[in-house]
Amino acid sequence: MTEDISNSGLQALNSAWARGREFLGTEYAILGGAMSWVSERNLVAAISNAGGFGVIACGAMTPELLDQEIKATKELTKKPFGVNLITMHPDLDKLVEICIQHKVGHVVLAGGLPGKNTIASIKEGGAKSICFTPTLALGKKLIRSGVDALVIEGMEAGGHIGPVATSVLAQEILPNITDVPVFVAGGIGRGEAIATI
Ligand SMILES: Cc1cc2nc3c(=O)[nH]c(=O)nc-3n(C[C@H](O)[C@H](O)[C@H](O)COP(=O)(O)O)c2cc1C
Repeated sequence: MTEDISNSGLQALNSAWARGREFLGTEYAILGGAMSWVSERNLVAAISNAGGFGVIACGAMTPELLDQEIKATKELTKKPFGVNLITMHPDLDKLVEICIQHKVGHVVLAGGLPGKNTIASIKEGGAKSICFTPTLALGKKLIRSGVDALVIEGMEAGGHIGPVATSVLAQEILPNITDVPVFVAGGIGRGEAIATI
């Protein structure tokens, strides 16, 4: 019985891992959480070169600065990486355009719910969009709006102010959202913690 449970657990872990790898185009299904002022070319390229998926934090960068940062990151890695955009940025449309021009494969939309138009422009530009969801209902709404993957982030996450713990969010959301990959963040510091979730 115990063996059956652990075998099915291992299968579930392997299939989630494979889905994440395929979605990101990486060796490991590990997405580097973007950190404003920290996730710049060197960190992003180091994560991607090590087999994970680095993500540039655009934060308050102007479109010109983002353009330079993407170009500079491409000099440091040939592996896939993404860009994290804050949806309340006044130049959001222009920032999306720059990501598309550079053929960035994945755009992570943070800081509030993105509009349908933003998700649509990313899709039309040939990139995938990844959004954060704080609840199951909003996650389902985002999927209806066309997002390609979700991130759930518990209260243990650095800089995060949500009230719900990673383990609770995971129990609410992971069994109920299977249409798109769901990445989990917040207080996960070791491989064993990845396996637990
Ligand atoms: C200093 C700092 C800056 C961050 N900036 C951003 C950001 O610009 N955009 C974003 O989506 N998340 C941001 N985050 C959240 C991280 O991307 C990530 O989701 C979170 O740190 C994961 O939880 P952990 O710190 O427990 O690993 C930031 C986190 C920190 C600690």
